[in-house]
Amino acid sequence: MYKEHVKILACPKCKGNLELFGEGEFVENGSLECKKCNVSYEILNGIPRFVESSNYADSFGFEWNMHKKTQYDSASGVSASRTRFYKETRWEKCEGEIILEAGCGSGRFTPYALELVGDSGLVISFDYSNAVDAASNKPSKNLLRIQADIFNLPLRDESCDKCFCFGVLQHTPSAKNAIKSLVNSLRGGGQFVCDHYPFNKNTPFNTKYYVRPIAKWIPHRALYNFGKRYVDFMWPIFKFNRRFFSPFRANRLNWRLLIPDYTSEGLDEEKLKEWAYLDFFDMLSPKYDRPIRMKTLYRFLEEAGLENVETNPGYNGWEGRGIKK
Ligand SMILES: C[S@@+](CC[C@H](N)C(=O)[O-])C[C@H]1O[C@@H](n2cnc3c(N)ncnc32)[C@H](O)[C@@H]1O
Ligand SMILES: [Zn+2]
Repeated sequence: MYKEHVKILACPKCKGNLELFGEGEFVENGSLECKKCNVSYEILNGIPRFVESSNYADSFGFEWNMHKKTQYDSASGVSASRTRFYKETRWEKCEGEIILEAGCGSGRFTPYALELVGDSGLVISFDYSNAVDAASNKPSKNLLRIQADIFNLPLRDESCDKCFCFGVLQHTPSAKNAIKSLVNSLRGGGQFVCDHYPFNKNTPFNTKYYVRPIAKWIPHRALYNFGKRYVDFMWPIFKFNRRFFSPFRANRLNWRLLIPDYTSEGLDEEKLKEWAYLDFFDMLSPKYDRPIRMKTLYRFLEEAGLENVETNPGYNGWEGRGIKK
């Protein structure tokens, strides 16, 4: 981390100041200490670590380190991540602002947040797992990467202008409390946007909800290797479905057969398969996967202290947004 970023950070326990120990303008290895709580947080490989090294999000650390680049537009050759970022946030250039990226995973949306804040702004990108080590966006004074827990943010309250949280909330023990914590980090008038897996009439037909309760206990490497073999074995069926059914039916059928289908993103066959390997593991390994109704998301957003709340069907099921009161 850059030394100047210490002023943004706060002790996650008491929200007090942290003192930085480490060499150089960019501290590769060092520590952050809270005198009041008498605790020290390690800085390892340039990233401050505010959490235990192993936690419930380990499966994500595994998958993003296996697929560091897979969903980056620069690697996939399509603009899936860019399109999703701009469509979902609806944000425009906001030079000099601070954007908080919650649960960054491999960091595929980070370049677009950086694009918005320009040279005078800052993107704070965090994840609970060691996915932060996979995130390959170059260190810069406009990017602060941290390993932190959504429920115990090492940030001052009301310090961010915007926050986005994509693909994360259903994988936490409490979406409601996670939203509350993120909204606390926003200043009055700050903008929040998130998405959430849906609970609706199709949920009972979603095969993963019957398989995941068992699959999540399988060691990560074994599940991942099994997934690869399964996708390879099923690929002729995947292609058959794509050829003989309408795009809508083929997509539904493939997902029900647990073969992730991203054909609509325009990926070539090799990439389609790579995304399928990643997503087979992604849908069956998480400790938590709790879909909710859209009205529940709406209530969580209101209860967190947002106004102009809006929820709509969109990426990942439901999208939700609002402005901090
Ligand atoms: C499906 S991934 C999404 C990653 C990224 N946002 C994307 O869409 O590519 C969910 C991420 O949420 C993170 N996550 C889960 N619980 C978290 C928590 N309590 N605090 C921070 N991140 C968390 C996981 O580690 C994982 O990287
Ligand atoms: Zn403290």
